[in-house]
Amino acid sequence: MKTVIAGKEGIAEAGEIIRHGGLVSFPTETVYGLGGNALDPKASEKIYSAKGRPSDNPLIVHVFCKEDVDALVKSVTADAEILMESFWPGPLTIVLPKAECVPYETTGGLETVAVRCPDNRMTLQFIKEAGVPIAGPSANLSGKPSPTKAEHVYHDLNGRIEMILDDGPVGIGVESTIIDLTGDQPMLLRPGAITKEALEICLQKPVLIDPAILAGGMAADVRPRAPGMKYRHYAPNAPMILVSTARLKNRGTSLTETEIAEEDRKTAAYISCEARKETDNGKRVGIICCSETAELYNGNLPGMRICVMGSRKDMLTMTRNLFGILRDFDEDGTDKIYAESFSETGVGFALMNRMKKAAGMTEILI
Ligand code: TXA
Ligand code: MG
Repeated sequence: MKTVIAGKEGIAEAGEIIRHGGLVSFPTETVYGLGGNALDPKASEKIYSAKGRPSDNPLIVHVFCKEDVDALVKSVTADAEILMESFWPGPLTIVLPKAECVPYETTGGLETVAVRCPDNRMTLQFIKEAGVPIAGPSANLSGKPSPTKAEHVYHDLNGRIEMILDDGPVGIGVESTIIDLTGDQPMLLRPGAITKEALEICLQKPVLIDPAILAGGMAADVRPRAPGMKYRHYAPNAPMILVSTARLKNRGTSLTETEIAEEDRKTAAYISCEARKETDNGKRVGIICCSETAELYNGNLPGMRICVMGSRKDMLTMTRNLFGILRDFDEDGTDKIYAESFSETGVGFALMNRMKKAAGMTEILI
C-alpha cells in the first residue's frame, strides 16, 4: 500500500477513505492520531494490526462536536456536559457508558467508550467530511513515543495506512487528559495538558487519581483503569535513567534559587560522570536537560549528545519537545539516555508521567 501525505487539499479524499473502511492519520493539538471508522469493527481491527497493538486496549472516539456524543453513549451526565462545554474542542477525553452502536472492537471489549473532540481545524473538517466518528489511537507503532510530526507517522506507518494528513508539528506534544465519569466520583485515568486542578475548579468537586498513575501503571498488583496505561510506553530504544537529588525531590518548591543551583550542579556532575564512563567504553549517550542547566554539561565530548527540552519556567515547551527528542535518540543509535527530573506540578505531572514511563520507572535519587 502506498501512503500518501497530504495537506488540507486531501481532506475530501481522506473522508472517502474512512467511509470505505480505510485508515488515515490525522493531526490533533496533542499528538497525531491513526483514524478509522469507529462504528466499523473491521476498521478498528485494521487499526490494531497497523499499530501492532494488543486489541484489549480501547480506542478513543473522535467527534466533530459535543452533540455527536449523544449517539455514542447511554447518556451524557451533567459533569460530562460541563466538561465538554468548558474544554472542547481541546485535549480532554471523557469516558462514559457506551451505546450499543459502538462495537466492542473499538472499546477493547469494555462497556464504556472514550470520546474526544480535538482542537485542530483540519481534523474537525476531516471528521465532518467522513460523516462518522473516528476511532483514533496515537499514530505510532505500539510502545514507541507518540508522533508529534507527520514525519514520525510516516516513519512508523509508511505502507500500512492509506493517507497522512499533515498539519505540521503539534502544539501540546503529550496525549489528552482522560477522565472517567462512569463511577460515583470523577477519576483521572491519564494526566495531560488539562490538569486535575483545572477539572476540579470546573466541576467544583474533587477528582480522584487512578492509583495506577501514581504507581506508574507498571506495578503488577495495580491494574490501571485505562487499559493502555499498563503497557510499556513512549519507550526509546535505549534504556533511559531519570536523575534527581533527594533534596530537590522532597523540598523542590521550598528551596531558594541558590539551593536549587547547588542541586542542579550535583545532578549535572553525576550525569556527566556516568555518561563519561559510557562514552569511554565507546557507547553513545544522550542527555536530556533544561535551558537553565544546559551550560553545566560539556556537550562537545565525542559520543555525547545534549538535548535541551526548553526552560523549566515553560513546562509546555518542554512537554512539546519530549517525544521528538526520544525519537531523535533512536535515529542516532543512542545506547543510553540520562534525563533530569522536573517538577510534577501543573502540566509537569503529565510530562513526568511520560518521562517515568519512557524510563520504565528507573529513577535514581542522588
Ligand atoms: O491525545 C490523544 O488522546 C491522542 C489523540 C490521537 O487524540 N490519542 C491517544 O490514543 O492517545 P491512545 O489510543 O494512544 O490512548 C488511548 C488511551 C489508552 O490508554 C486507552 O486504554 C484509554 O485511552 N481508553 C480508551 N477507551 C477507554 C475506556 N473506555 N476506558 C478507559 N480507558 C480507555
Ligand atoms: Mg498511544
